[in-house]
Amino acid sequence: MNSHLLVRHSSDRLWDYELYKSRAEIHAYLAPEQKPSRGHMTCSLSLGRIVFHKGRRSNPNTIVAGTLRGLRCEMAIGGQSTNLSTKVIIAIALFFACQLLLLWSNFEDLDEKKASVEAAVARLERRKDVLQKKIMDLERESYRINKTLLRSEILLKDRLPLLKNSRDLPPIFFITPTHYRPAQKADLTRLAQTLKSVPNLVWIVVEDADRVSEGVAAVIKSSGLQYGHLHAQTPSHLKLNASDPNWKVPRGVMQRNQALSWIRTNFAASTRGVVYFGDDDNTYDWRLFNEMRSIRNVGVWPVGIVGGQLVETPLVSAENGSVIGFSAKWKPDRPFPIDMAAFAVNVSLLHSHPKTEFSYDVPRGYQESTFLVGLNLARFDLEPKAVNCTRVYVWHTRTENPKLIASDRRRFQLQKDLTEVERHSVL
Ligand SMILES: *[C@@H]1O[C@H](CO)[C@@H](O)[C@H](O)[C@H]1NC(C)=O
Repeated sequence: MNSHLLVRHSSDRLWDYELYKSRAEIHAYLAPEQKPSRGHMTCSLSLGRIVFHKGRRSNPNTIVAGTLRGLRCEMAIGGQSTNLSTKVIIAIALFFACQLLLLWSNFEDLDEKKASVEAAVARLERRKDVLQKKIMDLERESYRINKTLLRSEILLKDRLPLLKNSRDLPPIFFITPTHYRPAQKADLTRLAQTLKSVPNLVWIVVEDADRVSEGVAAVIKSSGLQYGHLHAQTPSHLKLNASDPNWKVPRGVMQRNQALSWIRTNFAASTRGVVYFGDDDNTYDWRLFNEMRSIRNVGVWPVGIVGGQLVETPLVSAENGSVIGFSAKWKPDRPFPIDMAAFAVNVSLLHSHPKTEFSYDVPRGYQESTFLVGLNLARFDLEPKAVNCTRVYVWHTRTENPKLIASDRRRFQLQKDLTEVERHSVL
């Protein structure tokens, strides 16, 4: 579209304008003195705002107005606004530049941050290593402590029943006849060390001799137990000769009786406690002593390796837990076919039967039966111990009579010309 617009200037001069479609171009013919210098002219039409390019500077107060096809048109020859688009572009460019700069600085910041994070990670890794080592150390330590604890618990569990109220436990009067022989010291030492850990046990050692010996006294004292150290010599006509079988005459009769009378005298007021005959060469499990403390009258239990059998035991009824027989094959008709190591009696029975004791004047193998019958006991009085007589806590072991060369045997018998170490071995 090509048309002319006549615009009236304040000085009534006219200029031609051309208008192309929505974009108008104004060719202003200004007199030199009226030239509003170079600049933009804007034309405000009711249709919209049209920008006219006319140089770089303009007089902002110059208004031109006219009619374009009946439309009123006013034109302001604009001032600084002429640079607006450039400025907008520059501003936008600046804005983006700033953003870019910001972004860039952020990138730089990120690099720095990355480095510091990496350092922190390295620090944490090192710390993790240290802590892991610490954990391993602690685990090892905990394992060690647990092991020690377990050991202590086991120890404690074993000892607790022995220690608990040991003063209140009924005493055990443990009667041991003993006679002079090369293995005596060895046997007594073993027994002393078995009895040592048994609480509230009174060890009554009766030597078959005309006086007590220093060697036996030393062994008894080494046990740390309460004790009675006695002697009672068997008359020579009742003594076994070296060639006699050991069943020819009963052994320990006088010694046991001596011990019984010592208990009756020294523990006359005792109503609690049990009396047990424990030879010096038998083998004892300390659990035997726990079993015997609860005896009311007479307790019985199996004895290992005796009478030609692996074990001799009372037979216990599965129905009511009472003793209904015995497994002994040797002289089963005895009232109590049991070994001396197979029973213990309550000490009060000694006081209520002050005359009851052992005797040479009984058939072979009847020592135990005669003694128990003398205490007025019957089979139904027997209290089975050791889990209804299913456990063996004592063995009738025997120490072999050692074969000595003649000169050693003679020097031992006479206790003469023994070296220091020989004396320490047997005296
Ligand atoms: C012994 O046997 C009797 C009868 O079978 C039973 O009642 C009792 O609990 C048993 N005792 C032991 C210590 O096992």
